[in-house]
Amino acid sequence: MEKLVITGPTPLRGHVKISGAKNAAVAIIPATILINGVCTIENLPNISDVKSYCEILENLGVKIKWINKHTIQVDSRHITSSFAPLDLTRKFRASYYLIGSLLGRCGHAEVGLPGGCNLGPRPIDQHIKGFEALGATVTVSNGNITATCDKLRANSIYFDMVSVGATMNTILASVLAEGTTTIDNAAKEPHIVDLANFLNTMGADIRGAGTDVIKINGVKELKGNATYSIVPDQIEAGTFMLAAIASKGDITVENCITKHLEPVIAKVLEIGGNVEANGDHARVWWSKRTSKANIKTLPYPGFPTDLQSQMGVCLSMSSGTSIINESIWESRFQYAQELNKMGANITISGKTAVFEGVEYLYGAPVTATDLRAGAALIMAGISANGVTEVFNLHHIDRGYENIEEKFRSLGAKIERQKVEE
Ligand code: EPZ
Repeated sequence: MEKLVITGPTPLRGHVKISGAKNAAVAIIPATILINGVCTIENLPNISDVKSYCEILENLGVKIKWINKHTIQVDSRHITSSFAPLDLTRKFRASYYLIGSLLGRCGHAEVGLPGGCNLGPRPIDQHIKGFEALGATVTVSNGNITATCDKLRANSIYFDMVSVGATMNTILASVLAEGTTTIDNAAKEPHIVDLANFLNTMGADIRGAGTDVIKINGVKELKGNATYSIVPDQIEAGTFMLAAIASKGDITVENCITKHLEPVIAKVLEIGGNVEANGDHARVWWSKRTSKANIKTLPYPGFPTDLQSQMGVCLSMSSGTSIINESIWESRFQYAQELNKMGANITISGKTAVFEGVEYLYGAPVTATDLRAGAALIMAGISANGVTEVFNLHHIDRGYENIEEKFRSLGAKIERQKVEE
């Protein structure tokens, strides 16, 4: 086991380069199963979720060659299995994209239940609704989800709520289905657009990604033979932007798409931070104590749940009383009790957290309860007086590339150490 030891406070200063988007990569890698050919994927984040996914694909007969640590060449001409066992799929959430991909390519998928962060109940009824609408039979038993069909046929699907995963999975399952599939009430996140752009580059015909109505005109085959570069990670970019504010620093975030960060930029400005957004980079800096704000997490383009805990760190030190309403995940305030160990004053009531702003945080041993909570606690440790130890790093390593090196390059005093078992 390992821990991060952080000595603060340090105002972060300098430039940081954002990696490729985790939540796009974990959909695009399984999407290669649909390609009867070879393709190259660039700008992959070097994180454990990507490595786990490549391992799963290799077990299905896909040949993967690492060109460098951010680029793979994928040969999916010979799929030899449509079974992905639980011991591999439970390592992360996005393993459920294997169902849509294998169903689309092989007409059969037997996939262990997904794992991932414990954010409260994470049902997949809308994914199943999508598969069934396309003509598949879906059963869940003994820890596996099985989906089968003789022939997938296009249909119109209306999702009961906006779901990133169900939108992605239905796109994956319908790309090779006969006819035109329509998804209504689709998610609009940048990673949905990235998946559609990737598939279109490989020969698919998907229109409307990024709006709430997506149309997928089924094609006979995806030939591949193309190179695709993954979109920059807007959540990693937002994490560093908020770290600039929490640490009273001045950071330029490079290789991001500032359009994707509008809800975060709006809130940084509202609490009194400074932002200069320039399309593919943004300078964010602190100049005075930040003030309270109220936030409700929403699907894109609303304020992202995946930046809620990082924003919570800023609000815990802002003057006045702030309120965050978490509308996506039931258990996404677990970081609050850790932040309270560092001197924050946060009270949780159901899906609402009330932040009574304190002047400063102090160092303490804390545990990363999920991926984004882990990033938030690192930010808090950099901003706090004294030494903070962050435990449970496997959550953070799943989704952030070289996080401590990136923070160190901005001046943070942060070290990874082995923990005696
Ligand atoms: C994706 O999860 C992301 N994961 C999450 O990021 C992110 O928090 C979430 O979208 C929301 O933006 C990946 O992309 C791999 P949803 P996903 O389906 O697809 C309910 C991170 O930190 N719902 O959009 O699983 C669900 O319970 C992670 O990077 C159903 O009820 O989320 C939730 O309340 C954590 N039935 C809401 O919809 C369903 O069938 C949105 O979930 C599906 C979802």
